[in-house]
Amino acid sequence: MSSLHHVLLLGGSGKIAQLLTPLLLQRSWNVTSIIRDPAQVGNLQKLGEGHAGKLSVLVRSLEEVTSDAHAKSLIDEVKPDYVVFSAGAGGKGPPERLRDGTEKIDRDAACHFIRASVATPSITKFVLISFVTSRLRKPEWWTEEIWQTEQNTTLKALKRYYEAKVAADQVLHEEGKKRKDFAAICLRPATLTPEPAGKVLLGKTPVAKGTSSRASVAELTALLLDAPNVKSCWLDMHDGDEDPAAAVKRCIDEGIDVAEGEPYY
Ligand SMILES: NC(=O)c1ccc[n+]([C@@H]2O[C@H](COP(=O)([O-])OP(=O)(O)OC[C@H]3O[C@@H](n4cnc5c(N)ncnc54)[C@H](OP(=O)(O)O)[C@@H]3O)[C@@H](O)[C@H]2O)c1
Repeated sequence: MSSLHHVLLLGGSGKIAQLLTPLLLQRSWNVTSIIRDPAQVGNLQKLGEGHAGKLSVLVRSLEEVTSDAHAKSLIDEVKPDYVVFSAGAGGKGPPERLRDGTEKIDRDAACHFIRASVATPSITKFVLISFVTSRLRKPEWWTEEIWQTEQNTTLKALKRYYEAKVAADQVLHEEGKKRKDFAAICLRPATLTPEPAGKVLLGKTPVAKGTSSRASVAELTALLLDAPNVKSCWLDMHDGDEDPAAAVKRCIDEGIDVAEGEPYY
């Protein structure tokens, strides 16, 4: 049986986060889920029923976390040893909230929690949910055509989102280098779907466009948190044909890190 852990889940009412919560609780881990809408507390708390681990729900808006010190004070209140950042402003609200929220949540709040987590010795793992083309340079395992297509489609259409995500991913990579006993993990799905969890394509994927089941993203997140020897890494992720546990083990054993090729790698 796994040793007990306490996971701080940022963006706990999100679709991936709600799929992840029971996977953590069933390991007898405790979870503190941060959400912003008090109306969602009751539904969220139901996710905690019937599990060995305890679920706590805290209502706080991540938009108000405007400094590393503020993130650190939340961390000190919760006292987690693992942190998962699965919040994001995408999808809801008026255009200005989407625009500002993307910078405030996907970039700024993520960066504040990354830095505050690295500055907290008792925290040893941080998983950031990013996306597959959140990178500044073409990796050597993608063709020029794949990269150009991404730049002319996804990255152009989602410019602010892309800029917010690449900034947070870079901070995760750089902060992760500061501690040998800290795994800074960036999990990078493609287009998310509501399909059930299944087999995956993980690591250096030969494609950029594709689908990723949210349930598989949740499963991989739990497996990565549970892997005792995982190191800091970025892992791209699609639906595929490898067993998720085998894929995680292979990526760890082979030291896969798709941050390779980035200017600061
Ligand atoms: N859509 C895609 O195809 C795709 C692809 C790759 C990666 N991703 C990334 O995957 C991540 C999670 O995906 P998902 O499907 O689980 O998204 P989701 O259901 O939209 O979850 C995001 C969560 O962030 C929360 N959030 C937003 N602003 C907040 C704030 N100010 N304070 C506290 N919480 C806040 C939202 O809360 P509310 O419910 O209160 O709004 C929501 O619960 C996102 O970061 C996204 O960028 C998405």
